[in-house]
Amino acid sequence: MEKSKMRELLDRAIAVYESAYAPYSNVHVGAALLTSDNQIFTGVNIENASFGATNCAERTAIFKAVSEGKLEIKAIAVASNLDDVITPCGICRQVMTEFMTADSLIILGDKDKLSVHTLEEILPLSFSKADMGERDGI
Ligand code: THU
Repeated sequence: MEKSKMRELLDRAIAVYESAYAPYSNVHVGAALLTSDNQIFTGVNIENASFGATNCAERTAIFKAVSEGKLEIKAIAVASNLDDVITPCGICRQVMTEFMTADSLIILGDKDKLSVHTLEEILPLSFSKADMGERDGI
């Protein structure tokens, strides 16, 4: 993927985090993903008074894409209002595994820096649908 496309995704993640609903942590997170047919979906974290019901920005973006019939994600960028670069939580990495492949890109950074990683790098030895084997129900 071209560096300019990665920068565009990260800029979209930065632009959207303003819309985060994060009254409890004040950590505003944005995500922007690219589907296999080159559509961009964005998402923000949505917190809840029952903390466990909180949804991260990455999952919001992924669920928006999947609910529009887009099941293949090539890349996802994540940004936040924290001073340090934010990295996806474990639950989001697992959800990424469902709709991304080992070589899909995870783009992290802020307005000045950008780093790119593969899903395999950030979630090695993962459990995915490939490990489910042939069984009734699939
Ligand atoms: N959060 C995300 O949205 N994505 C991440 O990658 C890590 C954490 C959110 C969840 C919660 O609303 C806030 O950041 C603080 O954990």
